[in-house]
Amino acid sequence: MKLTVVGGGSTYTPELIDGFARLRDTLPITELVLVDPAADRLDLVGGLARRIFARQGHDGRITTTSDLDAGVEGADAVLLQLRVGGQAAREKDETWPLECGCVGQETTGAGGLAKALRTVPVVLDIAERVRRTNPDAWIIDFTNPVGIVTRALLQAGHKAVGLCNVAIGFQRKFAALLDVAPADVHLDHVGLNHLTWERAVRIGGPGGEDVLPRLLAGHGDAIADDLRLPRPVLDRLGVVPSYYLRYFYAHDEVVRELGTKPSRAAEVAAMEKELLEMYGDPALDEKPALLAKRGGAFYSEAAVDLAAALLGGGGSPYQVVNTYNNGTLPFLPDDAVIETQAAVGREGAVPLPVAPVDPLYAGLVANVTAYEDLALEAALRGGRGRVFKALLAHPLIGQYAYADGLTDRLIAHNREHLAWA
Ligand code: G6P
Ligand code: MN
Repeated sequence: MKLTVVGGGSTYTPELIDGFARLRDTLPITELVLVDPAADRLDLVGGLARRIFARQGHDGRITTTSDLDAGVEGADAVLLQLRVGGQAAREKDETWPLECGCVGQETTGAGGLAKALRTVPVVLDIAERVRRTNPDAWIIDFTNPVGIVTRALLQAGHKAVGLCNVAIGFQRKFAALLDVAPADVHLDHVGLNHLTWERAVRIGGPGGEDVLPRLLAGHGDAIADDLRLPRPVLDRLGVVPSYYLRYFYAHDEVVRELGTKPSRAAEVAAMEKELLEMYGDPALDEKPALLAKRGGAFYSEAAVDLAAALLGGGGSPYQVVNTYNNGTLPFLPDDAVIETQAAVGREGAVPLPVAPVDPLYAGLVANVTAYEDLALEAALRGGRGRVFKALLAHPLIGQYAYADGLTDRLIAHNREHLAWA
């Protein structure tokens, strides 16, 4: 089995490699190609990747290249984990929206739109080249904003599934709190990428007993602390929102807080510098503990599970993925991309039926879906007017004066990445 990782020079890649090594029975990789335009990073990350495989007795071959076409040739699956403009572009996404009193975040609000505009054309170009060389390969997209990028890929007819680690993170956390095996925890996970709620936590599968009330009663404080939301909010809702909901439920509080500390991008850039130095040490042959300070816990396990299921080698029968709605949430268009439990196999992901969604969540999901629709239009066709409309439609923006101020800033800060600007 051959896998290609585009954006393989990421400092995050050792997390993925560690998962591939540990879970080689689920996903027997014989050849792994790391593709990245940054040759210096590829050398460092590739070297460590080989040492991790060697230490764990994995005999798969790891190669690196900056030539995308050569890298994807013969691959069974291609993982996309790139970041156009790197942490420098992310830093801007996290800061200029604050000047307008709006949240500055890499996937939520105006910063997320900027990231979508930079990313969609690049990902579509890569996917086109993958299809030309290798029409049967599955594309697994981790590249944010995952909902919009996955929709762009599916709309262009690609064999793609979008993936995020939020659901697997909750699954592992709840399993630990309940002292059961993660595979026994089935989430009723509803919404869009980075806009989801866990409405039930079932033991044993989709029809199992819902232990969420018990979980909230016994561990509500710990769960609320992690999400940085007040415990009574969780108790009143009776669901567990993802931590991205804090940008909605505590928007103004977050804006005040972000104004007083360095951006996440700056923190990550400092970590990356340190990590790359560590990766250059030939004695290092495991993923460093520092990586745990990044947000991507368990993402390698989610990736292994998904790739294994898509390539027919096993993996969990039900997985939370990003794919076409196709009537699952009846209040959304069929071609909206939702994040949902799906049966995953060689033919792709088919969403499981979802119980009716309370207007408290459905309203926000519908609103953000409309924003994502307009965001994709803006990413594909460009133009100030389309950027403005997407921002005006966003539930965290909504007023023309904000949308105008944000549009000007978005374009000014991203000109080098926007062909039309
Ligand atoms: C979580 C999200 C990812 C996001 C990451 C950011 O894992 O699901 O989509 O990329 O956090 O983590 P970072 O360490 O870069 O802030
Ligand atoms: Mn994510």
